[in-house]
Amino acid sequence: LIFCSSVPSFVESFNEELLGEDIDRSKFPDNFFFGAATSSYQIEGAYLQDGKSISNWDVFTHTQAIKTNGANGDVANNYYNYYLEDIETMNSLGVNAYRFSISWARVLPKGRFGEVNPRGVIFYNKILDNLLLKGIEPFVTINHFEFPQELEERYGSWLSPLMQEDFIHFAETCFENFGDRVKYWITINEPNLYIASAYKEGMFPPSRCSEPYGNCSTGDSNKEPLLSMHNMLLAHAKAAKLYREHFQPKQGGYIGIVGSAFMYEPLTDNDDLDREAASRALAFDLAWVFDPLVFGEYPPEMRHYYENELPRFSAEESNYVKGSIDFIGINHYTTYYAKDCIHSGCNFQGGGHMVGFSYITGERNGVPIGDLEGMEGMYVVPRGMEKIIDYLKKRYHNKPMFVLENGYAHQITQDMQVQDSLVDVERVEYHKAYLAFLARAIRNGADVRGYFIWTLMDNFEWLQGYNVGFGLYYVDRKTLKRIPKLSAKWYTNFLTNSSLDD
Ligand code: NOJ
Repeated sequence: LIFCSSVPSFVESFNEELLGEDIDRSKFPDNFFFGAATSSYQIEGAYLQDGKSISNWDVFTHTQAIKTNGANGDVANNYYNYYLEDIETMNSLGVNAYRFSISWARVLPKGRFGEVNPRGVIFYNKILDNLLLKGIEPFVTINHFEFPQELEERYGSWLSPLMQEDFIHFAETCFENFGDRVKYWITINEPNLYIASAYKEGMFPPSRCSEPYGNCSTGDSNKEPLLSMHNMLLAHAKAAKLYREHFQPKQGGYIGIVGSAFMYEPLTDNDDLDREAASRALAFDLAWVFDPLVFGEYPPEMRHYYENELPRFSAEESNYVKGSIDFIGINHYTTYYAKDCIHSGCNFQGGGHMVGFSYITGERNGVPIGDLEGMEGMYVVPRGMEKIIDYLKKRYHNKPMFVLENGYAHQITQDMQVQDSLVDVERVEYHKAYLAFLARAIRNGADVRGYFIWTLMDNFEWLQGYNVGFGLYYVDRKTLKRIPKLSAKWYTNFLTNSSLDD
């Protein structure tokens, strides 16, 4: 195969950093999971087929299409009708695992206020059976950003403790119907990123803001983000308790959660305040999810800064929230710089935003943190993979970890040729580089057990619609035909330990 575009410069610097070390399958344990990931709303389509109800994202994309580039998931990749072919594709790709999510509105169209939809259950049963037939391990996300709109309308979804009850009911329905075949459960996808987008920045439904972002200002404190996280953590913990008491003993699986895991580095290396700013950003973003689930309490950094605002766990709650994950799941894409804003002034003119009273930016003195830019300031920073794994390894005493998403997106514009998407040299180099740093973290003792590429095929990307592609397969938007990109061929070769030229 001949690469058409020139090799991006980060490839060279990455090689230098790792002394020319190349990456291959043998650098990972034999029983390691290598997979691809998707989520229901982003691929299934069939939004009204076979008894599915309207979800929060159906309503959002239909009423505020301006926020999603005019796109919606009504049809998406029509995976609901093409899943058999797609599982065949996964099989030929050579992955031994597949991560997907269950559409809540398909299985329980009215949440706990109605019946189970048998046709929804049949759909996921068929997926599971076919995956297992091919020897592909299912990793199942119970809630990936979407839920029946009914729950928003009845009580305001995650802002209400009632959502905990609905989540437990949904989780129980999943354990009962699918738990005989699912060994890896992920309760909730990226609570931290979802909450920031839905309740802080007003970008995801229900479009609430805790700070004056753009035109949206529905509140002026952190109350809603903190409260919705509290409800999510309790929902997770109660579902995990139920699983452990009633299902795990006979089904024998594992339960965890996945956090959005950006790495933060100090803007100025030799500045103590910036170093503190970076570790504070990590605490307010990632440890916000994992500290409670491992230790039963919010991070000390957060407790220090939010005295009364932070919700509290009762002694009883803390007891079952603590230790409620068997593994740590992370979605890792990129690294940002963090600058102190507590002791010094911050100037937002160049963009950036705040996390944990730290100013977050992708640039230092106008120089981006990575040579290559993926979607919307997501720079390629391969070293971040090793750093984030090391951070988690240390903070959580090397609890088993899975990288449940890692991926690179490019823009898909009208005037682009299909070929431009198919020859995705940057994506291949991205994965090789991130995998090399992951391999090094594992060699140094990190207990990482799997790696999933986001995503199997180009699909509905929440705010960008179909204008960006993260996929190993390109999807023709007219015919919905899936076409392998160079990266799909690379992944297969990587997994079978052969080189691209073979
Ligand atoms: C994380 C989310 O889980 C997924 O749904 C999304 O498409 C990717 N990141 C890329 O933004």
